[in-house]
Amino acid sequence: MTQVAIIYHSGFGHTDVIAKEVARGVEAAGAAPVLLAIQPGQTDFGEFLAIANESDAIVFGSPTYMGTVSAPMKAFMDASAAVYFTKQWKDKLGAGFTVSGSPSGDKLNTLTTLAIFAAQHGMLWIGTGQNPGNNDDTSAATDVENRLGSFIGMMAQAANESAEVTPKAGDRATAVSLGRRVAEAAARWRQGAREAVAAA
Ligand SMILES: Cc1cc2nc3c(=O)[nH]c(=O)nc-3n(C[C@H](O)[C@H](O)[C@H](O)COP(=O)(O)O)c2cc1C
Repeated sequence: MTQVAIIYHSGFGHTDVIAKEVARGVEAAGAAPVLLAIQPGQTDFGEFLAIANESDAIVFGSPTYMGTVSAPMKAFMDASAAVYFTKQWKDKLGAGFTVSGSPSGDKLNTLTTLAIFAAQHGMLWIGTGQNPGNNDDTSAATDVENRLGSFIGMMAQAANESAEVTPKAGDRATAVSLGRRVAEAAARWRQGAREAVAAA
């Protein structure tokens, strides 16, 4: 079965909500999600790296803190140098998501940081594949998919409220769509690899 690892950090629960929606999308595509939540101060990432090594795709998620990935996420990224040298993630599919307080909040920088990180590992990056959902200057709807108009990765905005009520429905649905898209692509990629071996 196609397996998708979702490796993320969440300080206050909002990114955790989005990670679980990504996992729902993976399941909806008939694949198996593995949620791996980075804890503050975590230094041992052996299990995370082992699961990532055996996954068909890895989705990275981080809140945007001070315009970039959070410190726990960066700790994981640096620890992944252990597999960088052996290129164990080369040609795996990758994708990313982030949550910030402001509609922009400089969270594009978080997603480009994650995309560059994946590129350093030799991964193949998958964006949202969705048109912007709110692309006129009168709409402020929170219930439409890709309302923040992001292509390189999935963006969510959380107001200064509990993770039970924010991010809103549109962002949650966008996360489901990303999970589904990654899982479907990973299944095609896996099948293609099998056929290539059989044809050789
Ligand atoms: C240390 C810190 C830095 C933050 N920096 C930003 C920022 O640069 N841009 C922004 O829009 N929101 C920023 N926020 C707000 C968070 O991105 C927002 O609360 C988000 O929902 C947190 O996700 P989490 O609950 O998964 O930790 C920051 C919050 C904290 C605690």
